[in-house]
Amino acid sequence: MGLAHTIPPDTQAHWKHPYFIIQTHFSQGRLVKDGVQAITTELEKGTADLPPLASAGKLRYTGRENTKALPRETGGAAAVWKGRTTMPDITAVTHAQNIRYDRKAEALYIIDQTLLPGEEKEIRLQTIDEMVEAIRALRVRGAPAIGICAAYCMYVLAKSIRTEDRPTFLKRLSDYGQQLDAARPTAVNLGWAIREMMRTALEHVHDTRGQMLDALYERAVAIHEDDIAKCRAISEYGLSLLKEGDGVLTHCNAGPLATSRYGTAQGPFLLAAERGMHIRVFADETRPLLQGARLTSYELQRAGVDVTLICDNMASIVMKNGWVQACFVGCDRVAANGDTANKIGTSGVAILAKHYGIPVYVLGPTSTIDMACPDGDHIPIEERDGEEIKTMWYEKPMALPEVKCYNPAFDVTDHELIAGIVTEKGICRPPYTKSLKALFDDKK
Ligand code: MRU
Repeated sequence: MGLAHTIPPDTQAHWKHPYFIIQTHFSQGRLVKDGVQAITTELEKGTADLPPLASAGKLRYTGRENTKALPRETGGAAAVWKGRTTMPDITAVTHAQNIRYDRKAEALYIIDQTLLPGEEKEIRLQTIDEMVEAIRALRVRGAPAIGICAAYCMYVLAKSIRTEDRPTFLKRLSDYGQQLDAARPTAVNLGWAIREMMRTALEHVHDTRGQMLDALYERAVAIHEDDIAKCRAISEYGLSLLKEGDGVLTHCNAGPLATSRYGTAQGPFLLAAERGMHIRVFADETRPLLQGARLTSYELQRAGVDVTLICDNMASIVMKNGWVQACFVGCDRVAANGDTANKIGTSGVAILAKHYGIPVYVLGPTSTIDMACPDGDHIPIEERDGEEIKTMWYEKPMALPEVKCYNPAFDVTDHELIAGIVTEKGICRPPYTKSLKALFDDKK
């Protein structure tokens, strides 16, 4: 490629934002003034001139290995280090919890993602109709998040079934499960979580109603907590593929809103930010529902990550400019041969990346891998209303009402275009028929 590497000017400016300078003074080789201590004290006194992010949380010294040493000043008497503000809990700078079950109020809440970034508002899901509508309308979205939400929905619905007759109870719960599952066909996590909840109900079929409901609640919480742990592990593996200063292109939203906490494809960026590592992210806006613009850039900006928003058709130029060293994308269903369904446009990104010699990594939990699905041709692709292309987000319609639209919500990226599939158990490399199978055989 050999192209000049230039950085967009506003990106450069943003880099400086969450950073601060620590003056660490040495005298005869001994540390006499800890810069972090000094800055923390100034912050407490309200005199520190720090970016707004710093005042929202605690400062944490990320350690020499994660900070950038600047040249020593004046004969080695003092050293200046570049540090970074980090938060004790990353959720403090990303968003409130996207899905939460309030046990005291006995209520299930989600953040309505269709209102973001303008409004961060929780809505309560009580009835099967509200739940199906919320999943279908993408109020809750992202493969792992719809699985987590469906698990809590199953618990709420189970509580609403009043009969003491077990076969009738199971039949009604199973009917509810089918209605939820039909809300969106592509992401495998939805059906997976519903099956897990049905299995739990069956396991406790001879217990009292109260015991069975407790077991269902615990299973939903376990699915949720398990996803948090998986996202964290995926983020660690993903980050191991990057180095300081790398540029990464991402498509759609695979962050905390789409999962549980860190996210999958976005998790490494949040982890990098926490550790004071500098990664430049290019977020595709992701037509037609703009998950990249509305959600990804929102989450990353708030977390202090260096994010630059681009239209989908600008991916080629940023790659050509040499600004992208890897592409990180999420997944809705990975087939046994590694073919991966993800948000529409992902396969185009992968084809472009191949042209420019940029590796594409798919990041997702093992719950998104469908070993019963042999290849991409067997993945059901959701088709959505053409109004999402013509009228949604616009003040005036952008096409004549009679114009036909084709609006597939996902496409399948051929396994040959994927450099690695990053799961909570590690990074699978081609051939995926072998490496994915090994994950489930527990040989990896
Ligand atoms: O239609 P959406 O917004 O639910 O699609 C989401 C995606 O395609 C994500 O990239 C995928 O679910 C991974 S989320 C961790």
